[in-house]
Amino acid sequence: MLIKSAADIKSSEITSHSAYLNRRKFMQNSGVALAAMGLASTAGALETHAGKQPKFGPDWLKQQVAGATETHFGKDEKLTPYRDVTSYNNFYEFGTGKDDPARNAGSLITDPWSVTIEGECEKQGTFNLEDILKSMPLEERIYRLRCVEAWSMVIPWIGFPLAELLKRFKPLSTAKYVEFTTLEAPKQMIGQRSRFSTIDWPYVEALRIDEAMNPLTLMAVGLYGEILPKQNGAPIRLVVPWKYGFKSIKSIVRIRLTAKKPKTTWEQLAANEYGFYANVNPKVDHPRWTQASERRITTGGLFSRNRIETQMFNGYPEVSSLYTNMDLRKNY
Ligand code: MTE
Repeated sequence: MLIKSAADIKSSEITSHSAYLNRRKFMQNSGVALAAMGLASTAGALETHAGKQPKFGPDWLKQQVAGATETHFGKDEKLTPYRDVTSYNNFYEFGTGKDDPARNAGSLITDPWSVTIEGECEKQGTFNLEDILKSMPLEERIYRLRCVEAWSMVIPWIGFPLAELLKRFKPLSTAKYVEFTTLEAPKQMIGQRSRFSTIDWPYVEALRIDEAMNPLTLMAVGLYGEILPKQNGAPIRLVVPWKYGFKSIKSIVRIRLTAKKPKTTWEQLAANEYGFYANVNPKVDHPRWTQASERRITTGGLFSRNRIETQMFNGYPEVSSLYTNMDLRKNY
């Protein structure tokens, strides 16, 4: 992964969790009231992130996202401000600079959107996002996101466990891995048109089936109570909180269950630097930098480096049983 000398993010306002939740409650109540009055489509106008509610996206999705239920995940975490979550991104389809995705992702067409589910499962097919999300309860989970580049954020995602989706397609016993693919559309994605790109598009990621079925593994369709901004992987992306961020593939169009280990984008580019497992591990350094600590983008600030110690599995020890008897130095 290219490493840019990341200048400190300037601090925007700190969004405390309670302030955010109060706001969310207000939005939900307003949404319900407006829906009752037949004015649901204007609910988005009540947005509170300084008018940054995404202008695109279908109303049914905005409403479903706004109605997500709260969970216990990450209640004590200090959230990364919305502005930083949506302006400091990695989405190489839109450029390699941290501010490129926010600037260039407007050209991504996210509605209509369909996802193909195929491979080693009883049921297969291509489905509209609406059909996938129909009768899928959404929840909010505050997760830490640790990038392999040694910065991190805390993000309130809205989504559903991937396991809930996979179960509907009845995986066969031959399904050992799950492969995910991002949209390939050079006309919409400036980074895919670039002659200098070293990535063999489309972006592909994969998990072992038990990792995919783990209750922590989330498919996200929103953040901060709103639909996903395009730069964050609209309309649907993966979030695997105990792994380095590059596993959390954006703008997914295909999910394939496979018997063999899929070839993933970063492993193909530099297998010695970006392993298949990519579990956050402070004891296994990247060949070019330490992974023992990270820069937490929370309050930012010119004088605050916000350097914190990196935790094993990014602080999600409940996944350690997935890796018993595995040498995590070899399987990095
Ligand atoms: N997915 C696609 N399709 N393309 C990408 O370049 N970058 C990954 C991941 N998913 C990437 C991607 C990396 S390196 C990180 S750290 C996270 O997205 C960043 O997610 P965020 O921009 O929402 O914080």
